[in-house]
Amino acid sequence: MSSSTSWRHLSSESNKVDEPFKVEEAETVNTPPPPTEKLLVLGGNGFVGSHVCKEALNRGLAVASLSRSGRSSLHDAWANDVTWHQGNLLAPETLKDALTGVTSVISCVGGFGSNSQMYKINGTANINAIRAASEQGV
Ligand SMILES: NC(=O)c1ccc[n+]([C@@H]2O[C@H](COP(=O)([O-])OP(=O)(O)OC[C@H]3O[C@@H](n4cnc5c(N)ncnc54)[C@H](OP(=O)(O)O)[C@@H]3O)[C@@H](O)[C@H]2O)c1
Repeated sequence: MSSSTSWRHLSSESNKVDEPFKVEEAETVNTPPPPTEKLLVLGGNGFVGSHVCKEALNRGLAVASLSRSGRSSLHDAWANDVTWHQGNLLAPETLKDALTGVTSVISCVGGFGSNSQMYKINGTANINAIRAASEQGV
């Protein structure tokens, strides 16, 4: 059995190409490098946040964290691969540097306390974070 096209003839018996392939002149294709995903975890040194950081690193993302104490007391090896920023979501201007080059943000900032404390940390703080991220196009 054999097949033919207008420009080549292949024989399946011998696997020989009877006519040379026509090779188009090679073109240089300018493709952008693959996007670098950089995740900023707000509260990345907390209980939930540290698990999010570790999982994101395992999946190959570049990971940064922001919290009031920065890296805090984390000694695990994975923590060396996180870029730690100090900042306070209740002072949103302190987020600007940490948001540079970031492609996504996950907030793990929250907590319990009096009604007014919870309003601040679960509400105002996270609204500030969303605003700051949105202003920087994240
Ligand atoms: N733990 C659980 O089992 C669990 C389960 C379900 C849901 N959640 C929810 O998940 C959220 C986080 O819980 P968690 O247990 O991970 O709490 P956590 O260990 O206390 O972590 C809170 C994180 O937020 C940071 N943070 C607090 N105030 C901040 C501020 N003003 N600006 C910037 N960072 C701030 C803390 O770091 P600094 O102190 O250094 O700022 C810390 O990294 C809470 O909303 C909680 O209700 C927790």
